[in-house]
Amino acid sequence: MRTPLVAANWKMNGSREFAEQFFAAFDMSGVGCQVVVCPPFPYLPLVADKVGSGVSVGAQNLSQEASGAYTGEVSAAMLLDWGVDYAIVGHSERRSLYGESSELVAQKFVAAQSAGLIPILCVGETLAERESGRTLEVIAAQLQAVTDVAEGDIWAHAVIAYEPVWAIGTGKTATPEQAQEVHRFIRERLGEAGAPVRILYGGSVKAGNAEALFAQADIDGALVGGASLDAEEFARICRAAG
Ligand code: G3H
Repeated sequence: MRTPLVAANWKMNGSREFAEQFFAAFDMSGVGCQVVVCPPFPYLPLVADKVGSGVSVGAQNLSQEASGAYTGEVSAAMLLDWGVDYAIVGHSERRSLYGESSELVAQKFVAAQSAGLIPILCVGETLAERESGRTLEVIAAQLQAVTDVAEGDIWAHAVIAYEPVWAIGTGKTATPEQAQEVHRFIRERLGEAGAPVRILYGGSVKAGNAEALFAQADIDGALVGGASLDAEEFARICRAAG
């Protein structure tokens, strides 16, 4: 069946010293799930050197372009060059703060996948969208934007993260039932291809609420922001996943 996956998204936090200390404190004993650590770009090589077996490295973003005059951008091939396996695409902070449309996110998904990276596609609704009963419609449109441009068996090498925007960094987690409803919807939406896809939950996941979330049938792990900056708490979340 699906191997659970827990990903750390450090966002724009940390330093070389932080990364060294994190891996000195991160205890993988009892962790049976797959673990991905996504540091800021400059620390990718350091993290790639530190991770032991069972831990992969992910980027938080990438360019949709392969190479050329795109100042400040980082391509999928460059990430692969540094031992990166995964790339987050469409995080809500990229969508809302940097104006990334679902169409651009889809291009980044394709750029990552066609180069050999595994995209972690983030989808999720805002509070206003949930309160107006549009949650599933929004998620469906975000998925559709990807299936409109990506070709082939795209879900065989991709991870999806459901992150309700109202739960990110707010301390308000979706209840396990609220999350499960959306996860099941996503899986059904993918049809037959959906059965093996890891669908992670993200939004104020902590050691204290992880177990109840992971007990849901369609929640296969987590994309963890704030709590991933504490190596001991992050390890506890990983252990709860399997
Ligand atoms: O990528 C991670 C998510 O944005 C969740 O962040 O765990 O700090 O709420 P958070």
